[in-house]
This record gives sequence, structure tokens and C-alpha cells, in this order.
Amino acid sequence: MNVSHNVPLQPYNSFGIVAKAYSLLQICTEANAVEAQKRLKSHPEGHCVLGGGSNIVLTGDVKPLVLKMEILGKRLVVETDKAWIVEAGAGENWHELVTWTLQQGWPGLENLALIPGSVGASPVQNIGAYGVELQDRFESLDALDLLTGQVFTLNAAQCAFGYRDSVFKHTSSGPNGIGLSGRALILRVRFHLPKNWKPVLGYLDLEKKMAETGISNPTALQICDWVCSIRRSKLPDPKVLGNAGSFFKNPTVTPEQCADIIARDPKVVHYPMPDGSIKLAAGWLIDACGWKGKSVGNAAVYEKQALVLVNLGGATGGEVVTLAKAIQTSVYERFGIRLEPEPVVI
Ligand code: EPU
Repeated sequence: MNVSHNVPLQPYNSFGIVAKAYSLLQICTEANAVEAQKRLKSHPEGHCVLGGGSNIVLTGDVKPLVLKMEILGKRLVVETDKAWIVEAGAGENWHELVTWTLQQGWPGLENLALIPGSVGASPVQNIGAYGVELQDRFESLDALDLLTGQVFTLNAAQCAFGYRDSVFKHTSSGPNGIGLSGRALILRVRFHLPKNWKPVLGYLDLEKKMAETGISNPTALQICDWVCSIRRSKLPDPKVLGNAGSFFKNPTVTPEQCADIIARDPKVVHYPMPDGSIKLAAGWLIDACGWKGKSVGNAAVYEKQALVLVNLGGATGGEVVTLAKAIQTSVYERFGIRLEPEPVVI
């Protein structure tokens, strides 16, 4: 296993923040993961897991041992009458997995194209876009228990997926008593891609693409192209302008709270959810508070999409956090809503 010291982390975080890891272990195999677990016992600073680095804000040099997940491999586990079950190593790039499955003729992940990050991080966040969430295509995953050194498997129910949420984001001392945050190191993820594939086209931006192109029955590859072009037009390319995708979750409110906001601001973008709650577009709330294009130091609100914070060049994690807090305060003062950040602040 490769152990390095004083490793610059700028290339490994999509915000492009300058920081270094005191010690970094490259985990390329399950055996590396087991070895890393043993080393953790003699590392009082703890650890943090680095996948694609697309959902973190680094606020300084990282003292915890950084476990950089680089387990590769993509394979068809089994083909049944009903589905293809596909497995990918935690270190695989998410978008490359999406395009590879489509090239093989296995549709299902196309709405999730171009989401930055790694396969291992995808269940943690329960990534989602354009009407599909990871949990809709999830079969199971294997993880290493960093406490006991045992490898275990979890199905979808055991992952307790929610909107941008899972068991991997909670500690066992949390409100429901279950949680694997800091404990499970995801090694491999398996996906269930049904053969009776149906396109998911309910999202407004995709409806617009259908109208523009006159294609009402697109293939999965066509949808993948559409999703890529929508994302490229709205979201900055992290290679050009550092960012971590959506910075805040879309908040949910009760119908009464929503009615109250509509009374004050009739244009508020909101979507009724199946459970009776209402989801509000955080981007709209931030935009309505006048944040587009505003900055703190070199951290700014993206001028085309207020939900995305960007690094104008040389931003520190502290500047990103200060900007995020100022946004939270102004949205709270105007709408009474507390926005919850998506990225992990390290
Ligand atoms: N809006 C504004 N001003 C803005 C931004 C958005 O008025 O500055 C309005 C838009 O006009 C639209 C609504 O807010 O009516 C929602 O915006 P959008 O369609 O861009 O989607 P979103 O809610 O901002 C979510 C996900 C994205 C995902 C898209 C597509 C979250 C936090 N974000 O964004 O996920 O790609 O839907 O499904 O759920 C991510 O998590 O990193 C991410 C990019």
C-alpha cells in the first residue's frame, strides 16, 4: 500500500482548495483497506475518506489519516431475465461507469450522467438528478467495518436512503441510533439495471429537450446526451471553475409554511412531495435574496445558478464557509428557512 506524507490535496478536491494531507494512504485493493484499518488504531487523529473529492470543503491541512479510495474494476455480476446486475469498485469515476453501462447496452443510469465524484461516494449522498436517485438503481454494496476489520454487505433498506442522505451520513449516536458514518469504508457497489427500461422524462428540462428535438421516444444514450448538455449549460465545470455542485439541499416545508411563503413571495419555486410535504428550490431562495455573483474573498455564488458556490481562484475553505453562512443567514431572515449544506466541511 502506498503511504505518502505532506500530499497537496488541491488536485483531489473539486473546489480546488489548497491544503495538504499530513498522511495519505492510497487504497487500491481490499487488502489495502484491511491494512489501513489496522493502521488507524495507531492514528489518534482519526481518518477521513477521500473519493472524487467533489463534495468536500477543506478548511486547512488535514491531520486525520486520509484514505484515498482507488479500488477499480467494473463488471457484469449476473444477467437474469429481468435485469443486469453490475458492480463497480469504489474508486471508479461515476460518469465513466454511467457511460460504460450505456455502451454495453445496459440502460438505467443515464439521468445520473456527469455527476462529479466516485462510485464509492454515490450511496453516501444517494446522488440524484433529473428524476432518478441512486437508490432507484441500487442492488447492494460491500464495505469494510473500520472498527472490527470485517467486510459486510448492505442492501438498499439497510442503507436507509433518503434525499441526499443515507446511513453513511449518520453516527450511531444520532436520533435513530443507527449510523455508519466514520465506520464503513465502501469498497464496491452493485447496481440493478432492469431490462424493462423506461425513460424517466418528467423533469422540466428534459421535457424542453423533447420539444426542441421533436424526439418523444429517446434512447438511454440520447437522454445521457441531453442530461450532459443541460448540466454543462447550468453547472460550472470543476476543471475550469472549482465547485462542489449544489452547495445546499433543497429544503422541505409543511404546506402551511409554504402557503406563508407564497403569500409573501408568490413566485417561490416549489414541488409537492409524495409524503405531503413541499420541497422548495434552494437555488431560487438564494437567488431571491440577491446572491448571484456575490463573493467573499475568492469564493463566490455562481452567476448562472445560485445553488452553486465557486472558487474564483485561490479561495480558502474559510471563505467558502463564511459565504455559505452569510447565505444561510439571509435566507433565514427573509424566508424563515434554514438551508442545510450538502458538502462535508473538513
Ligand atoms: N432557480 C432559480 N435561481 C437559481 C437557481 C435555481 O430561480 O439561481 C430555480 C430554477 O429556475 C428552477 C429551480 O430553482 O425552477 C430548481 O433549479 P434546478 O432545476 O437547477 O435544480 P436544483 O433544485 O437546483 C437539483 C439537484 C441537482 C440536480 C438537479 C437536477 C439538489 C440540492 N440539487 O438542483 O443536484 O442536478 O436538481 O435534478 O437536490 C447536486 O446535488 O450537486 C446537484 C447538482
